[in-house]
Amino acid sequence: MSNSLLRKKPVSSVDAEGKSTSMRRVLSVKDLTFFGIAAIIGGGIFSAIGNACFTGGPAVILLYGICAVACGFTAMCYAEFASRVPVAGSAYTYAYISFGELFAWIIGWALIMEYSIGNIYIAFSWSGYFTNLVHGIPEWLTINYKSAHHAFMTNTPGEGLTAWMTAPQIGSLRIIFDMPAVAINTLLTGFVFIGTSESRNLSNTMVIIKLSIIILVILVGVFHIDIDNWKPFMPNGFGGVMAGVSAVFYAYIGFDAVSTLAEESRNPEKDLPKSMIYSLVICTVVYIILALVMTGMNSYKLLGVSDPLAEIFKIKGIKWMLFIVSLAAVIAMTSVLLVYQMGQPRIWMSMSRDGLLPKKFSSIHPRFKTPGFATIITGLVVGIPIFFTDENIVLDFTSIGTLFAFSLVCGGILMLPRKSEHETKGRFRIPYVNAKYIVPAVTAVSFVIIAVFFPDSVYEHTDKSRLHYPMIIFYVVWAVIAVLSYVRSFSLIPVIGLLSCCYLLTGMRWTNWAMFGAWLVVGLTIYFLYGRRHSKLAGQDNP
Ligand code: ALA
Repeated sequence: MSNSLLRKKPVSSVDAEGKSTSMRRVLSVKDLTFFGIAAIIGGGIFSAIGNACFTGGPAVILLYGICAVACGFTAMCYAEFASRVPVAGSAYTYAYISFGELFAWIIGWALIMEYSIGNIYIAFSWSGYFTNLVHGIPEWLTINYKSAHHAFMTNTPGEGLTAWMTAPQIGSLRIIFDMPAVAINTLLTGFVFIGTSESRNLSNTMVIIKLSIIILVILVGVFHIDIDNWKPFMPNGFGGVMAGVSAVFYAYIGFDAVSTLAEESRNPEKDLPKSMIYSLVICTVVYIILALVMTGMNSYKLLGVSDPLAEIFKIKGIKWMLFIVSLAAVIAMTSVLLVYQMGQPRIWMSMSRDGLLPKKFSSIHPRFKTPGFATIITGLVVGIPIFFTDENIVLDFTSIGTLFAFSLVCGGILMLPRKSEHETKGRFRIPYVNAKYIVPAVTAVSFVIIAVFFPDSVYEHTDKSRLHYPMIIFYVVWAVIAVLSYVRSFSLIPVIGLLSCCYLLTGMRWTNWAMFGAWLVVGLTIYFLYGRRHSKLAGQDNP
């Protein structure tokens, strides 16, 4: 009996699982690409980006570039995994076969942040834009309790205070909750429960509408660019740019959700890799142009608001665009909610099949052929916190969890034995470029440049007397990866993906790490109390 925490799932058994799926294979490469775009373009560009522009200035486009590199190389690693093991578990399954059970559990647990916790943020942002469009809903039904309470305690005039003062009461409890956020979550949970084809049609329609409107925003915005707004380019230094990492990275996540649809894809080995890469490239181009337009139309100082895309047109007095932007935001975020709401149950389904979660999580609805029970639980996991949390906490939480999972996916590819071209015929394979000499050489040169020109990078940017420990840890990780690249002749692309994800993690604040640590402790407790004992591998010999 294998008791190892690192017992691994054999690739052959994963392959067999994918082939015997009882889900309907209805998705083509176009559908999957549209699902990717549906999941990527959402709250990140319509909401979170405002504060990133405010702290980073026009140089925020550099962060878009870094995030694109991190996500691009990670997407290639996802693509190779998805092609080798086309089942619904996404990074969770990939970690299971490359690092072993404990890491798989940790990733599965971290992905809950990306999918479910991420959806809480989007539901709140969705509601913000929705109430721009639909007037007349009382304030106590459009804001979360926490924000209203905070507005009351700090006596801040506005929606929160009005909600607090006008809310009906049961005893001393004020009834305040974000009704649109609750409603959209319930509605989409219903859609996802009913079927994949229905969700696909909805997603495809929304993607076409949102891309058309974004192109319109760009075309209208381009004529209002004043290049003086791009100066100063980096008003708060690189530290200011990095302060926006959660927001900008958040805008990119979502392409991995495509891999959770492996068992509903017609030809997963070929279509998943293509669609992940297509959707990421399309979104990167859109983002960089949009960021240039946003920072070019108005001073970055005016963008620190929760609806920055609407704000740029408001300031310019182009009122008719406000409605269009709000409409695009509502549609874009609906599509993200939809795809995430599909992704989460499919990851739980895989975890349950492996015995790490109760069996019920993998039950397939006899009529709709979707993971019905897990879909409802997802609806509850997203819906219940809407009543007592706010959006800021969840944004940071989501980004750190996802970056962590991405780092492990890139690392996972490095752990897998390399296969010959013959063995992977017809499947996507990352082109192998030997990192043996390149990575150590680039590392040595970079360390010299950093020591000579950027010695301050090891200090907190606001306080030169305090060491920036995440950066120091990153340098150590970088050095270790350089040595391993030499010793084990690593493949270059996953190494770059891994290093860029690790670099982005240095932008996370200590509070994020503390929250993430607490989340992991809860997850590990559940694993040791339940998953470890019920794992299907518990009774098998395992290398
Ligand atoms: N990338 C997705 C969004 O921006 C999560 O909403």
